Amino acid sequence: MANPQAAITAIAGYVPDYVLSNKELERMVDTSDEWIQSRTGIKERRILKGAGKGTSDMGAIAVQQLLDKASLQTKDIDLLICATVTPDHPFPSTANIICDKVGIRNIGSFDVSAACSGFIYALTVACQFIQAGTAKRVIVVGADKMSSIINYNDRSTCVLFGDGAGAVLLEASNNGLGIVDSILKSDGAGKQYLHQKAGGSVQPATVASVEAEEHFVYQDGRNVFKFAVKGMEEITKEIMDKNQLTTEQINWFVPHQANTRIITMVAKRLGFSAEQLMLNIQKYGNTTAATIPLCLWQWENQLKKEDKLILTAFGGGFTWGAIYLKWAY
Ligand code: UT7
Repeated sequence: MANPQAAITAIAGYVPDYVLSNKELERMVDTSDEWIQSRTGIKERRILKGAGKGTSDMGAIAVQQLLDKASLQTKDIDLLICATVTPDHPFPSTANIICDKVGIRNIGSFDVSAACSGFIYALTVACQFIQAGTAKRVIVVGADKMSSIINYNDRSTCVLFGDGAGAVLLEASNNGLGIVDSILKSDGAGKQYLHQKAGGSVQPATVASVEAEEHFVYQDGRNVFKFAVKGMEEITKEIMDKNQLTTEQINWFVPHQANTRIITMVAKRLGFSAEQLMLNIQKYGNTTAATIPLCLWQWENQLKKEDKLILTAFGGGFTWGAIYLKWAY
């Protein structure tokens, strides 16, 4: 008997209530609504406020919503994976904490760290468990509280990012629908262009590291832009060629939301029309591991059974990846 395929059978999302507008950013740093919109496409982003609130709080809300939507109980879940670069703590994993907050006990749970490609990576990992037959129902969360690692004095990064979480339920399917193929790539030489310098084992937190503002995202935006366009274009082509797909056959192109200019450039080079594109960066900014599930969540009502989707992302590492899937409901 053929291995089961893994299909997304439910989706949920959460964004915090607080809206950080471009106008408010104008009062914080030397920037303008005009610059932000024309260079990035972003109008506003959501910020998680409240002392003691972390990535797991957003993830747990999304997971609870997912369970309710799918009419499942906590005992029905076999594994939970969380993609994030803003874990609540260095350890335990944010996946562990989400499980605890939702009341999921005694299952495997762990985090995946692949920055903006985190959801693609985590979904691919989850898929292996289903295909191997070792798990029947896996929850994959993409969640980041980017505001916790953003320097709100640095105009080159603070206008870009927002907070949010998305979650999908992945189940075994035998009807040909679900994840058909995935490709993951990385190149550690990209670290120089996008990283958070301090707070890890190389440079633990010290008074000096905090004073030098080394616990924030550093990005050489111009270089990352070039690599992101090339990486997402090439990997999308690769997965489409491998599966003998033309752009016309794809119903939805779902790219990581880092910059409207990157997305439209990649879409144009590949021949995707605006109607095939999921684009919501204007509302949420770059929520790192959450961008793709938040897109799927927003477009859920327009997705039809058997629709063909390509998901792709590029991010810190560098990491990049693509998934080809057939929508299952
Ligand atoms: O998701 C992970 C992967 N990340 C990405 O894919 C992000 C990739 N990079 C980008 O999206 C873009 O490079 C940025 C949006 C970050 C920057 O846009 P850019 O068109 O590449 O601008 P730039 O960095 O080349 O800067 C152009 C100018 C500079 O001024 P000078 O040196 O020309 O005088 C910057 O200082 O824009 C200035 N600038 C700003 N001006 C107003 C940078 N940030 C701002 C700002 N407001 N917020």
